[in-house]
Amino acid sequence: MSAAATTAGSACSPRTIRVELSANPYPVVIGAGSLARLGEQVAALGFKAGTKVLVVTNPDVDTHYGAAALASLREAGLVAERLVIEAGEDRKTPATVALIHDAAFRQKLERGSLIVALGGGVVGDMAGFAAATWLRGIAVVQVPTTLLAMVDAAIGGKTGVNHPGGKNLIGAFHQPRLVLVDPATLATLPEREFRAGMAEVIKYGVIGDAVLFADLEAAAARQPGAGLASQQAVGAKLLQSLLERSAAAKARVVAADEREGGLRAILNYGHTLGHVVETLRGYGTVLHGEAVAIGMAAAGEIAVAMGLWSRQDQARQLALIAAAGLPHTWPSLDNEAVLACLQGDKKVREGRLRFVLPTAIGAVQIRDDVTADTILSTIAELTPKSASAGPSDPDPHPG
Ligand code: NAD
Ligand code: GLY
Repeated sequence: MSAAATTAGSACSPRTIRVELSANPYPVVIGAGSLARLGEQVAALGFKAGTKVLVVTNPDVDTHYGAAALASLREAGLVAERLVIEAGEDRKTPATVALIHDAAFRQKLERGSLIVALGGGVVGDMAGFAAATWLRGIAVVQVPTTLLAMVDAAIGGKTGVNHPGGKNLIGAFHQPRLVLVDPATLATLPEREFRAGMAEVIKYGVIGDAVLFADLEAAAARQPGAGLASQQAVGAKLLQSLLERSAAAKARVVAADEREGGLRAILNYGHTLGHVVETLRGYGTVLHGEAVAIGMAAAGEIAVAMGLWSRQDQARQLALIAAAGLPHTWPSLDNEAVLACLQGDKKVREGRLRFVLPTAIGAVQIRDDVTADTILSTIAELTPKSASAGPSDPDPHPG
């Protein structure tokens, strides 16, 4: 596996982690205050003064960071305009991407132009997809502003939108030229969104980094009651370390398997059943990270049922998910709908569902022998006994 290279950072200099793809390697720059240097960083990629740049963002993010991003780009001589789109999970559709294409047309973006995605994973996935498809592909820079996008969505080049039948069914691989992570932008992120991002950090621990998992447990134990469920509890120092270690973990996997021919599938841990929860509860009802937390809890139960990992490790996983203030019980959903939704998943190969299942803290296997009976009995185990059936029930996991 190609290693993700890192360079040392300090309070003044950000840390850079490189995604070492053979054809198009790129840096992930992580450091508080780095948004102010967006223009400088883009210019350093070779975009000359006069290059047209379309900054795509959404209202929440624009309020806080739109002006700073534009000012930095313009200071570097770039001709930057901004498009503000409604970008909730329920708006992650081809129709919203068409609005980005319309703006690209108005601004007369050329092959050498650039799209900057400024926002969470929804903005990043859609702006990335617009960049992948405009003029058959123009450059994109990802500037993630949620924890989830910083540790996962902005890195690795998966772009796309949802279909009513399933999450992210429409999309393209399109690697960014740069990922610029400014942890200071998390100051305005709602705590529920912060917790959702912690699900993906825990994922990296379970799938490949037992030390990270143990460090998270230790950090949670140092904060009895608060756990890892808020930015304040996590603290700036641990946060910077989690951002770096998560980005490095993702960079390593993507460098080894850019297009998910094999290893990259492990990044889908918790996503198979998580996507079912997101789709059936209605896009945006359960946050993506919350759904991943539920999906990891369910995958762990399946692994226990199949004799792949210990009840003790599953208890550790559930405790860490709980310490991050994330849900880990199954919501009331119709079983037939669950099975039908699973069959529509991208991870079905020749009719067989592929699950990423843990075998130890820090190790997973990809299996295609999980039966419908095992899935249904597992989710029944994880369903609170008081829950009644029906997808329109109130969300039992407000996070
Ligand atoms: P999101 O993009 O919906 O953002 C969450 C909310 O936070 C939004 O309301 C947004 O306006 C707000 N927000 C964002 N940054 C803010 C800030 N700094 N201050 C205040 N408010 C802010 O959610 P998300 O969790 O970032 O992303 C989820 C999406 O990412 C899902 O669609 C998922 O499928 C996708 N995803 C993609 C990949 C990938 O590899 N491409 C990986 C994981 C997840
Ligand atoms: N989040 C899964 C992947 O990037 O492959």
